[in-house]
Amino acid sequence: MLNKTIDETKQGTCLTADTIVLQTGYPQKFYIESYGCSMNFNDSEIVASILNKANFGVTKELEEADLILLNTCSIREKAEQTIRKRLTEFRKLKMRKPSTLVGILGCMAERMKTTLLEEEKLVDIVVGPDAYRSLPMLVKQAGHGQKGINVLLSREETYSDIAPVRLDNTGVSAYISIMRGCNNMCSFCVVPFTRGRERCRHFQSIMHEAEQLFQQGYKEVTLLGQNVDSYHYTDEATQETINFAQLLVKVAMISPLLRVRFSTSHPKDITNEVIQAIQQYDNICSYIHLPLQSGSTRILEKMNRTYSWEWYKERVDTIKALIPDCGLSADIITGFCSETEEDHQATLVAMRYCAYDMSYMFAYSERPGTYAQKKFADDVPDTVKKRRLQEIIELQNQLSLESYSKDIGKTFSVLIDGESKRSVADWKGRNSQNKTIVFPKKNNYKPGDFVNVLIHDCTQGTLLGTVQD
Ligand code: 5AD
Ligand code: SF4
Repeated sequence: MLNKTIDETKQGTCLTADTIVLQTGYPQKFYIESYGCSMNFNDSEIVASILNKANFGVTKELEEADLILLNTCSIREKAEQTIRKRLTEFRKLKMRKPSTLVGILGCMAERMKTTLLEEEKLVDIVVGPDAYRSLPMLVKQAGHGQKGINVLLSREETYSDIAPVRLDNTGVSAYISIMRGCNNMCSFCVVPFTRGRERCRHFQSIMHEAEQLFQQGYKEVTLLGQNVDSYHYTDEATQETINFAQLLVKVAMISPLLRVRFSTSHPKDITNEVIQAIQQYDNICSYIHLPLQSGSTRILEKMNRTYSWEWYKERVDTIKALIPDCGLSADIITGFCSETEEDHQATLVAMRYCAYDMSYMFAYSERPGTYAQKKFADDVPDTVKKRRLQEIIELQNQLSLESYSKDIGKTFSVLIDGESKRSVADWKGRNSQNKTIVFPKKNNYKPGDFVNVLIHDCTQGTLLGTVQD
């Protein structure tokens, strides 16, 4: 994986029909595209489960769908533009086949509420992230020509009892949402408005889902939340309370053959207990995605990140002291309100210090309704944002190449997750540090197998090696 820029990020990627597993035998068909973060992809799997019960099976063919859904992202303006373009394409399709219903789900549905349905008439159904249970009813209503909208946010909904239908059918790795929403209110971020207040899922239901996945043959689970380190749950009956580190250990103890990952950590909340859990359990992957956002304490304050660069640096020092081989990546925003050249330089210094293996890097995009939009001027000119973004990308490319080069000569345990995109003669997989490793197929190894791979070459985004028997 190459370092990601604004347009092709985890927030900009799209799970399309190509990657979706086909479901047959249902009287009606739905087609779904998912944009944005992993939470959104997992939400689409919850939506699939709800729709299956309402007799809709997933299709890869847009033309044969009775219901077309877009699960959307609002994090940057660019993401919303992409989705709008897609909606106008669907409108053309609907003109050819008027019985097709088009629905918008997720963050953009929540943010825009009635606009896309009533004013722009681009969709028939609008459903926010906490209202997916009402989707079958809204589809029925829309089928009768009524408005199908529910954008109510909830303080309780975690979809705990819904078993997600795995759409991206590798059968190797699965996401498990452990919480929803976010209480942090970073000043640039629209998520607290679109996904609501933080709520945690009962740990027993998380454990049940992880155990079932392992029994079905899955080899890796990723625990998902906007801020996993603030996970906590008290069982009312037993009064047992568990925090994120304890949850991580519980899931890891299901089996040493089940890899456990998590995303996303927050620098203010990641505890030594979490870092020690990674150190102590081989199957908790040595990889932390720790969004930095900026290396300037002044900007971090304006962003309401509630930590300073010194705090962040100490967290990284602790991680590296306890887990010297830990993979580390970050999110970085460039050109936030009032960012000076000096602030920008501080970000470059911080990146060098942390020596990230990979980063997701973005130019600041003002979002309606956020604190920053209301209180600060978006005053860094686009040309400056772009130039600074280019500089951080170039630095990250250099840091990635240095990090990957250091792995030459090492042997890693790799979980095979599929065929290399470049050659059918090669497998690809990831090591504990989350680096992608490509190697020639050998023996009867297949996706889901763990193999030891000796690294002999690299690019800035991939390690190349050979299997050691
Ligand atoms: N502009 C640019 N990037 C943003 N992010 C969140 N909001 C914005 C915004 N308004 C980035 C942050 C966050 C990641 C998920 O997306 O870096 O960590
Ligand atoms: Fe947005 Fe901050 Fe919450 Fe992340 S932690 S979702 S950046 S408000």
